[in-house]
Amino acid sequence: MSKQVWKAGTLVYPAPVVMVSCGTLNGIKNIITAAWTGTVNTNPAMTYISLRPERYSYNIIKESGEFVINLTTKKLVKACDFCGVKSGADVDKFSQMNLTAAPSSKLSAPIIYESPVNIECKVKEIIPLGSHHMFLAEVVAVDVSDEYFDKTGKFHFNKSNPVCYSHGEYFALGEKLGSFGYSIRKKPPENKPKKYSSKNKSKTKRK
Ligand SMILES: Cc1cc2nc3c(=O)[nH]c(=O)nc-3n(C[C@H](O)[C@H](O)[C@H](O)COP(=O)(O)O)c2cc1C
Repeated sequence: MSKQVWKAGTLVYPAPVVMVSCGTLNGIKNIITAAWTGTVNTNPAMTYISLRPERYSYNIIKESGEFVINLTTKKLVKACDFCGVKSGADVDKFSQMNLTAAPSSKLSAPIIYESPVNIECKVKEIIPLGSHHMFLAEVVAVDVSDEYFDKTGKFHFNKSNPVCYSHGEYFALGEKLGSFGYSIRKKPPENKPKKYSSKNKSKTKRK
């Protein structure tokens, strides 16, 4: 096997792809699609989005210091793409995509009601990096749709059909391959009674 060496570039794929809502519920509001996002700290819960300063959403978020990360599902992927190719300077993305702007619990920025998980964020720092500026933010609340909870209160996020973005294309998740720590997990002891083999049978045969 040989390798080609490319100039530096961003190829950390698959990446999450999210719809970021911003502005205010009853004033100017917008949605921008972002793939440059992720978790940076567990406690306090911290995340980021990296935006080009020329985006219409950039100044809205810079001025308000707030945004909501709305997770994307198979049902929402078309809207997600639309919000990533049209500017809020020209169109109302909520009405064009039939998305509902609903109140968040701790911010003035709206959530997208149709998204199963809305992560409410307050900007802590804006770090200019070059093409993009990173909005480092603290998560202040998370709104989760009821429909993915079972009777015991367990949340089944993967039933929402999350999607990801990989090298220019959107994908639904495929086959489940394991769960956290499965590579070292011991198999549960077999407590099923052993089946009789034909060998055993002959031994126990009555004479
Ligand atoms: C899949 C996808 C991912 C994107 N990720 C980012 C991103 O992380 N940062 C960014 O600044 N723009 C990103 N964009 C581009 C913006 O979403 C796009 O320019 C959008 O129209 C800006 O909206 P606005 O002008 O209403 O703010 C992405 C677009 C797509 C389709």
